[in-house]
Amino acid sequence: MTNIDIAKYLLEKKKIVDSAILKYFTHKNPLFQIMYYSVDGGKRIRPILSIASFESCGGSDIDTILPIACGLEFIHTYSLIHDDLPAIDNDDLRRGKASAHKKFGEARAILSGDGLFAYAFELFTEGNGLIREKFAAIKAVSEIIGPKGIVYGQTLDIDEKKTLSPKVLREIHLNKTAKFIAVSVKVGAIMAQSPKNTIDMLYNAGLCLGMLFQYTDDILDVIGEKDKIGKTPGKDIVSGKLTAPSIYGLDGTRFRAQRYAELAKAKFSTLGKNFEIFHALTDFVLNRTY
Ligand code: IPE
Ligand code: IPE
Ligand code: MG
Ligand code: MG
Ligand code: MG
Repeated sequence: MTNIDIAKYLLEKKKIVDSAILKYFTHKNPLFQIMYYSVDGGKRIRPILSIASFESCGGSDIDTILPIACGLEFIHTYSLIHDDLPAIDNDDLRRGKASAHKKFGEARAILSGDGLFAYAFELFTEGNGLIREKFAAIKAVSEIIGPKGIVYGQTLDIDEKKTLSPKVLREIHLNKTAKFIAVSVKVGAIMAQSPKNTIDMLYNAGLCLGMLFQYTDDILDVIGEKDKIGKTPGKDIVSGKLTAPSIYGLDGTRFRAQRYAELAKAKFSTLGKNFEIFHALTDFVLNRTY
């Protein structure tokens, strides 16, 4: 246990991220409004993880990490917009409001996702960091959001479910969610100019946190409250998705989530006291209701 007030911490960091994001939406062209509609309203976990890591690694100039943090959120939002499309999950509700294709039609939803995806890379080149670190961050992120990460995971996720295979489930969770969570932690360390072994250890701990994150997402699809999660509960079951509860049941999933949380915390522990915030963040992800 830590003495950190995690709710307060998350709120403070979310405010910083939200106001940084707003500055990127002053353009007059209407595509920006469509993009912002979907960006607005998330928990901001990935940008917050990157900031937490940056600060735990001794980084002090927030403007070194903030544009990258916002870029991570744009990539995440693009992935949600496309995830909700009729061709993928066909979800009408996202972040407590109509999903992008419901609000603007499919074509504009797709294009707003494309816009966010590209805009993220413009942001990655901004901020106070050195070129060498920025290059390493862009390399790390780009490697895990495409065919070796999110897009691959999403592709596996839409495949016809043939067997309740724990191996396939792990492959889906790892690729569609865990790697991106892990790289969010990793870029903070990169931008703080941490040594390679710290960066690697954080990435590995981040993978456990990311697996935990998708486990709790799957649990919330079963037991979450619509108003809190801002999504349609029960969607995975109706769509016949391969999820942790579909293989392990709710209790089995909770048990395994607990194990991932313990594993994540054990890994963060090896990095020392400066990384205590990650214990609190892990507990938040384990116990989250939204
Ligand atoms: C939902 O992510 C999609 C997953 C990868 C599980 P979040 O739960 O972080 O969604 P927002 O950003 O808060 O809306
Ligand atoms: C999506 O997983 C992960 C992404 C890469 C977007 P889900 O399909 O479970 O996410 P939700 O439940 O719609 O947010
Ligand atoms: Mg999905
Ligand atoms: Mg979905
Ligand atoms: Mg889900």
